[in-house]
Amino acid sequence: MASTTHDRPPARTPAERLADRHARLAADPAAYWLDEARRLDWSRFPTRADESSFAQGDFGIRWFVDGELNVSFNCLDRHLADRGDSPAIVFEGDEPGESRILTYRDLHGEVCRMANVIRGLGIGKGDRVTLYLPMIPEAAVAMLACARIGAIHSVVFGGFSPDSLAGRIEDCGSRLLITADEGLRGGKRVPLKANADQALAACPTIEQVLVVRRTGTPVPMQTGRDLWWHEARELVRDTCDPEPMNAEDPLFILYTSGSTGKPKGVLHTTGGYLLWVAKTFDLLFGAGDDDLFWCTADVGWVTGHSYVVYGPLANGAATVMFDGVPNYPDFGRFWETCARLGVTIFYTAPTALRALMREGDQWVEAHDLSRLRLLGTVGEPINPEAWNWYDRVVGQGRCPIVDTWWQTETGGALIAPVPEATATKPGSATLPLPGVFPELVDADGALLDGATEGNLCLAQSWPGQMRTVWGDHERFFQTYFTTYPGKYFTGDGCRRDEDGYYWITGRVDDVINVSGHRMGTAEVESALVAHAQVAEAAVVGMPHEIKGQGIYAYVLLNADVPASDALSRDLRNWVRSEIGPIASPDAIQFVPGLPKTRSGKIMRRILRKIAERDTDNLGDFSTLANPEVVPVLIADSRA
Ligand code: WT7
Repeated sequence: MASTTHDRPPARTPAERLADRHARLAADPAAYWLDEARRLDWSRFPTRADESSFAQGDFGIRWFVDGELNVSFNCLDRHLADRGDSPAIVFEGDEPGESRILTYRDLHGEVCRMANVIRGLGIGKGDRVTLYLPMIPEAAVAMLACARIGAIHSVVFGGFSPDSLAGRIEDCGSRLLITADEGLRGGKRVPLKANADQALAACPTIEQVLVVRRTGTPVPMQTGRDLWWHEARELVRDTCDPEPMNAEDPLFILYTSGSTGKPKGVLHTTGGYLLWVAKTFDLLFGAGDDDLFWCTADVGWVTGHSYVVYGPLANGAATVMFDGVPNYPDFGRFWETCARLGVTIFYTAPTALRALMREGDQWVEAHDLSRLRLLGTVGEPINPEAWNWYDRVVGQGRCPIVDTWWQTETGGALIAPVPEATATKPGSATLPLPGVFPELVDADGALLDGATEGNLCLAQSWPGQMRTVWGDHERFFQTYFTTYPGKYFTGDGCRRDEDGYYWITGRVDDVINVSGHRMGTAEVESALVAHAQVAEAAVVGMPHEIKGQGIYAYVLLNADVPASDALSRDLRNWVRSEIGPIASPDAIQFVPGLPKTRSGKIMRRILRKIAERDTDNLGDFSTLANPEVVPVLIADSRA
């Protein structure tokens, strides 16, 4: 396990130890962080800690700038002596019991082989490699293989469409794509290689495609471009020297939706990111030798990067990779798998809990969950009802609930209870972790004190913070640091109670949180208007019992195109194929016009209220260019 030798003697309570951390940090931040840095193995230990600035003139996020290390060495090699034969990855396939265990030694060998293969393809330090894979061990192997040779990985969720994949490849100019023949989800096949082939027609930067065999279905292989992983791995050695990387060298790019334009490539670097995920994993989940940790997220999202792969492996823990869905073959899948594998720490999203809660307690009670000792949630606010169900039915009242607030941009958890140390309140992510300095501000940026509600900002950098938007540093600064100058703005609204606890209320920008996945309204709108029959579209969030938020689309059709249920279905399928199933609208309302200001700006505030069925207090809309459409929209929304 991660070294805790620099902690105080164990006689102190967890709450005292946490208070002590805060105190040491306050007394001497640089000393605190350099001490924390000892949980990693560095080829050159840093002498400098935080050198970040959020201010216009010398803006930049920089940590441990003279340190040198390799992420894959930290996740693999350094554990070999003590835990080479211990499980690193416990793979659980789509069909119950399709399981495979990779020990740290196995994983090390596979990663070295893949590193040798991709190095042999001419990929080296700083090159971009796109991964489009199912949740199979090879996804983690590919990530770690890139890290081993200093290549920058960009994982694209396997549920994204060929177009979305192409856009992400193009943006970062990847030279290599790693994909699989097919994926398997809930008994259905996902044609990954076929999607990739379609995407690559528009991606001239890709020179080679490495294909992992998952289902064995025949797929066309393009001579000179495509090669099979299972063949290539036989031709290389199972050792590979790790490339020494500067702490600020890029580790990965991960695309995420924003309120405007196309998805941004969030860039994380080597030292600060790894330290933050290693540390938060240890602090929040503290997995030891007898633990089996299961985070249900896909590696296509940041949760999968930080808490399926990097956080657990940096700590030498055993991590489950699950390639299925919560309701296949039935609603007991999570709990059956927990019981069969002996999972002790379980981390999932509120949307999954709400969906399973609805099916009844019997699905949980049918399985022996006595090994579970800690439960986590992430991705969206958890409603107290789901929190209480998780606590009572899944945790049998015995397991602390760790609600972790964070973002793709933050690298790892920032606001969360430390088990045994922080008292929890159902629905609150509780208090900031050491080194996290939240501030609430009003719309004008004025700092709000005490119990209050406002926009959530972070006043100082932390090691896991993103460093830039790939290829657009100015967009990074503009997006996050200019709304409230001198602060990082999260895009979230938040309440702080009389005990100083934080309650995230949701996004305050044009981002929708669908089942814990971020979707930009602008992206869905541009997919809709790309349809031949659509003239204009406006997309807002709506309350959704299971997903948290659903996608509500107002659509203005071209003149003479009649509205119909068939067209509505057609538009849904269109968005699916343009972006992916997660972007498919939950409601489509055909409209005679969109409410606009005289300067032509869509009045989203009104559209949101109508979608939320909260039309009693719409405010004044008489100054709109077309106020007459509002009553029509309201009437049709209820039809
Ligand atoms: C947005 C970030 C963090 C990885 C998964 C999502 C919302 C996330 C919580 C939570 C309330 C949460 C926020 C945030 N969010 N966790 N525990 N309580 N809200 O990452 O796609 O970057 O989305 O998810 O609104 O801004 P993401």
